[in-house]
Amino acid sequence: MNIQNICCIGAGYVGGPTMAVIALKCPHIRITVVDINEARINAWNNDDLNKLPVFEPGLDNIVKETRGRNLFFSTDVDKAIDEAEMVFISVNTPTKTYGKGKGMAADLKYIELCARQIARVAKQDKIIVEKSTLPVRTASAIKSILDNTGNNVAFQILSNPEFLAEGTAVKDLLNPDRVLIGGDTTPEGEKAIQVLVDIYANWVPKERIITTNVWSSELSKLTANAFLAQRVSSINAMSELCEKTGADVNEVSKAIGMDSRIGPKFLKASVGFGGSCFQKDILNLVYIAKSYGLNEVADYWEQVILMNEHQKQRFSDNIVKTLYNTVSGKKIAFLGWAFKKDTNDTRESAAIRVADNLLNEQAEIAVFDPKVVEERIYADLEFLDTRSIQENRKLLKVKKDPYEACENAHAIAVLTEWDEFKTYDWNKIYKSMQKPAFIFDGRGILNKTDLENIGFVYYKIGTGN
Ligand code: UDX
Ligand code: UDX
Repeated sequence: MNIQNICCIGAGYVGGPTMAVIALKCPHIRITVVDINEARINAWNNDDLNKLPVFEPGLDNIVKETRGRNLFFSTDVDKAIDEAEMVFISVNTPTKTYGKGKGMAADLKYIELCARQIARVAKQDKIIVEKSTLPVRTASAIKSILDNTGNNVAFQILSNPEFLAEGTAVKDLLNPDRVLIGGDTTPEGEKAIQVLVDIYANWVPKERIITTNVWSSELSKLTANAFLAQRVSSINAMSELCEKTGADVNEVSKAIGMDSRIGPKFLKASVGFGGSCFQKDILNLVYIAKSYGLNEVADYWEQVILMNEHQKQRFSDNIVKTLYNTVSGKKIAFLGWAFKKDTNDTRESAAIRVADNLLNEQAEIAVFDPKVVEERIYADLEFLDTRSIQENRKLLKVKKDPYEACENAHAIAVLTEWDEFKTYDWNKIYKSMQKPAFIFDGRGILNKTDLENIGFVYYKIGTGN
């Protein structure tokens, strides 16, 4: 099959950047990214490249080069599906909030809607590529819908999980550690796999493109995220022990990371991992394990989540305890709200839970984040439904200037590791704060000696002295 047109359903953090890079590297293929959210599509089409709905370093330049050439954003889903020989499904698969598997299983409602829409519209054979992270064996559900409701068109389903990390999406897409493609082991399946391999081979070295059966591919995505999250929870568990014993978690990370069997990455202690994937994928894994009666497997992985919840809780508890056991009426400045630096995404960010805990203690919070907009921050709090919308807006203010956020504060909490925080005029900030002026560095990015010399009382996660 010769691919001339690709359609991608879902113009989110994954669909948008992934298609932009394929368009850049495959000028011979016309790519249309569609979404039911009209505002999002309009934002992707905005002339001002600073207004793209997803902030990723380097993405604006790629969109500038490809948009209108062979990359298009549209809300006309039917047309794009009809024209394409290959359809990527990149819609979100949130944790279920209702019914069986509530709070654990992935909600496949959107995936099913996509499959039904493809089945209804398709008039010629198509390759369907799952980009969304899915529970193992979802491909067979998609296939069953396509085969039973379609217009006698032949579909091949491939699993092609995305491993990009937000904040480095462009870099990860241009130079991936590996591309994974799962497909049927039948001759037709193998042909379809080869078609997708050929697309990636336009820029990815062949030895980094690996092919497996569909189930291995789907499970590999969940496993990769579970292993990465487990490293963060493991080092975070050590961070608490370091604080008690006087060890320094950064020194421990360095010492163990130099063991080539362990490696240096993903050993940074933090206030807790966030992001759209880690928690959701582990919960999903736990749910799948339980559904096969594998309770020990489920408990093992669930502990990674429990450790993460504990890390967020103990960070806010420590703030309250250090501020003489009460933060009621005290201003606390939050530097950062995004779940990591270089992204405007806040899904599952540790900042949300820490803020909620402190608001329960009647603290007044002022937030500054370089990329996250005010409405997003309020929406994150409202989603928790802990208190009324009015109360959230009364107690928490969003500032456009970091110095203003810190003015008159009793304490500063660093929730995201944005580079610019390191270069602030900390003397100026100190002068404007209540004394003693506390800093709780949940990312361990600031310089302890410098800050202590200025006069701050400085707490760094995982450091006992
Ligand atoms: C992706 C994957 O889809 C998810 O499974 C993975 O775990 C993380 O990355 P992401 O791109 O981050 O999700 O999600 P999001 O930014 O929410 O984008 C999904 C888009 O799909 C949204 O813009 C939404 O409007 C769109 N959508 C959803 C549709 O166009 N149709 C639908 O039926 C449902
Ligand atoms: C993750 C996976 O890395 C990616 O391969 C997959 O496709 C999607 O999920 P993402 O969630 O975008 O990517 O970011 P990631 O860099 O993995 O960070 C996740 C969270 O862990 C962040 O909150 C980050 O701050 C935290 N983290 C990461 C740590 O606290 N310490 C570390 O050492 C690394």
